[in-house]
Amino acid sequence: MKTGWLIIFFMLSGMIAAGNIQQSEKSISMLPKIYNDDGDGFIIIGHRGASAYFPENTMAAFRAAHSMGAEMIELDVLLSKDGVPVVFHDAELDDHTNGSGLVSDHTLKELKALDAGGWFDPKFSDQRIPTLEEVLQFASGKIALNIEIKSEAVTGEMEGGVEEKCLRLVKQYDMQDHVLFSSFDYRVASHINRLDPDMPVALLYYKKTSGKKLPSELVNEYDADAFNCSFSQLTKKRLKDLRAHEIPVFVYTVNQKRRMQKLLDKGVTGIFTDKPDLLKSLIEERTE
Ligand code: G3P
Ligand code: MG
Repeated sequence: MKTGWLIIFFMLSGMIAAGNIQQSEKSISMLPKIYNDDGDGFIIIGHRGASAYFPENTMAAFRAAHSMGAEMIELDVLLSKDGVPVVFHDAELDDHTNGSGLVSDHTLKELKALDAGGWFDPKFSDQRIPTLEEVLQFASGKIALNIEIKSEAVTGEMEGGVEEKCLRLVKQYDMQDHVLFSSFDYRVASHINRLDPDMPVALLYYKKTSGKKLPSELVNEYDADAFNCSFSQLTKKRLKDLRAHEIPVFVYTVNQKRRMQKLLDKGVTGIFTDKPDLLKSLIEERTE
């Protein structure tokens, strides 16, 4: 727990002990610090970079998201055959490279030989699958990251697992205050919390493992700092619960102005979009 939070924590503990306020399950959330924060408390997230205009999860898409005014970049992480965290969404290479088969069946060297942009437009055929390290190198000192660990890379083992590898790299590039981890596999939250309780982590709502539990129940169970869900999953009931427990909520993947508008009206914490420029201009319009 960081010093600032520590002070607040002790103040709150004192108040609770004195019977001044009721103890809530998790009253303090940690969120990453935003480098280029415009001070509105809302976070524009470039989903897989500016992936409406550039091949998703490539350096071209990440650079563009930053220059379009995104305050955070979302990226997906899998492991190569030789255990290197690489930035790629699908378990298989077929749709978004000129390769085929599972990412996890290819070494980093083999993955690096593939064209990761030509499927989008031949002019991007020089794009390669980035390593997480390369993205951290680019983002450090510049833009916050949401590192989504894909379920395929997660195991029951914490030691030597994907979370530990990612966390080590995040710290190596001094990004620990600027990263939010997330996953549909809730074991990631448990592992990250055990590896470093100061590291912000979000649950990506997954119906199968959530049953009928409310966001606050899930967040409390896994000691998470935020709740991420799709636009349609943010029901009235869930929103009410999130608000009542003051849980930050990030919503994906929203590319229509009308939907962005609705979510901004609802006061969500951040929106994942493939079009960070559109979200940015909408926010500017609303503040004029
Ligand atoms: O993290 C938000 C969103 O990216 C989750 O879904 O499938 O696009 O990785 P997906
Ligand atoms: Mg993702």
